[in-house]
Amino acid sequence: MNKNLLLYFIATVAATGGLLFGFDTGVINVALPSLREQFNPSSETEGLIVSAVLFGGMVGPFVSGPLTDILGRKKINVIAALIFVLGSIITAIAPSVMYLIIGRLFLGLAIGIVASTVPLYLAEIAPANQRGKLVTFFQLAITLGILLSYVVGYFFEGEADAWRSMFWTGFVPAIILMLGMLFVPESPRWLIGKGREEEAMSVLKRLREDSIAEQEMKDIKQLIEDEKHNKGNWKMLFSKRLRIPLLIGVGIFFIQQFSGINAIIYFSTDIFKKIFPDGSDAVLATVGVGVINSCATILAIMILDKFGRKQILYTGLIGTAVCLATVGLAFYMKDSLGAEIQKIMLIGGVYLYIIFFAISLGPLGWILISEIYPLKIRGFASSMGSFNHWIFDACVAYSFPVLAATNLGTNGGIFGIYMTVVLLGLLFAKYVVFETKGLTLEEIEKRYN
Ligand code: BGC
Repeated sequence: MNKNLLLYFIATVAATGGLLFGFDTGVINVALPSLREQFNPSSETEGLIVSAVLFGGMVGPFVSGPLTDILGRKKINVIAALIFVLGSIITAIAPSVMYLIIGRLFLGLAIGIVASTVPLYLAEIAPANQRGKLVTFFQLAITLGILLSYVVGYFFEGEADAWRSMFWTGFVPAIILMLGMLFVPESPRWLIGKGREEEAMSVLKRLREDSIAEQEMKDIKQLIEDEKHNKGNWKMLFSKRLRIPLLIGVGIFFIQQFSGINAIIYFSTDIFKKIFPDGSDAVLATVGVGVINSCATILAIMILDKFGRKQILYTGLIGTAVCLATVGLAFYMKDSLGAEIQKIMLIGGVYLYIIFFAISLGPLGWILISEIYPLKIRGFASSMGSFNHWIFDACVAYSFPVLAATNLGTNGGIFGIYMTVVLLGLLFAKYVVFETKGLTLEEIEKRYN
């Protein structure tokens, strides 16, 4: 197979994990109305149904952390796919809320695993000048998964037991991930780390020109030799030497999540209902969020290896801050604004916000945690990075409906809080993040010596 084609085949299979991530987190946005009809859950139970996936996501990195480095980047994804299959079946046939929550915990566990391992696998397979692009494939798949869930929601809306059909849909990509993963090669970097140099060389030669493959092999081996004395463990992750990468792993996901992205991804139907009392118009506006999110991520794939990571981060942060201010004002000034102006500010603000997020904070979270850690602890450290994602995600998902019911919801103050976090993110982008565009993983690692 042509080398580039093979690279894209690998990226597509691995990114199916992202599709499942997006689908199983996004589907709750559209499944909630029919779940409410069938089970009439209290708001606490509803909170549990929404966030069970996020709690599972928090456990995922603790499973994938050690196992990615021991079993390799491939097997762990097959395991995750099996858990996805199991979770999809349990949620789709759930006879009670209890089963639903258990099924969503399983789905979350699988999402937590792929979110740690897929970006890392992609970063290790990719040539340096295409790394940003390939890891953004994962983000694109997340957004396509979210879109798929919204479209499925739109089609089944109003049917009896609509949520069961929605959850069954997640079963299909889970099977594709499981079968596809059996055909992709193991990460050459992991193979070299395990002393399986011949296999690594053959993978590298399938993916690169021979001379580039040989040079890459040399660089990776040299790095492993230099790092021989370092034990890859918690102590290393928290050592002074890795303070900046550690800070980046926490900071980027704090800003990504507290920018309020999932207040929109999980609850946009409820938000849009404030201006579209007809449920199906609100779901249609939510489908718009999904379409824009995916299209803007395609744009991100085109620009990420052209402009620096920092430059893109600045643009995204400023853009999202302005949009959050617009959405906040649409609520704050609703009595003085005409209904039409309020609609434009709310929908326009949300849609533009999604564009700015999708080209910057969305992909950059996953790109940075896949490339900034040393090989010795890359699996473990990027898993811990993604653990931060789930903690912060759960905080926002839990607090949004609660805050939305208070004054902060009615006067738009909640969006002011998200805007403040994004503005503080500018300091983080300036003083903590460093430029990694175009550097090989080995060159990035040398920075810490
Ligand atoms: C985030 C998710 C979010 C998605 C939206 C991802 O990068 O990690 O929490 O739902 O982007 O597209």
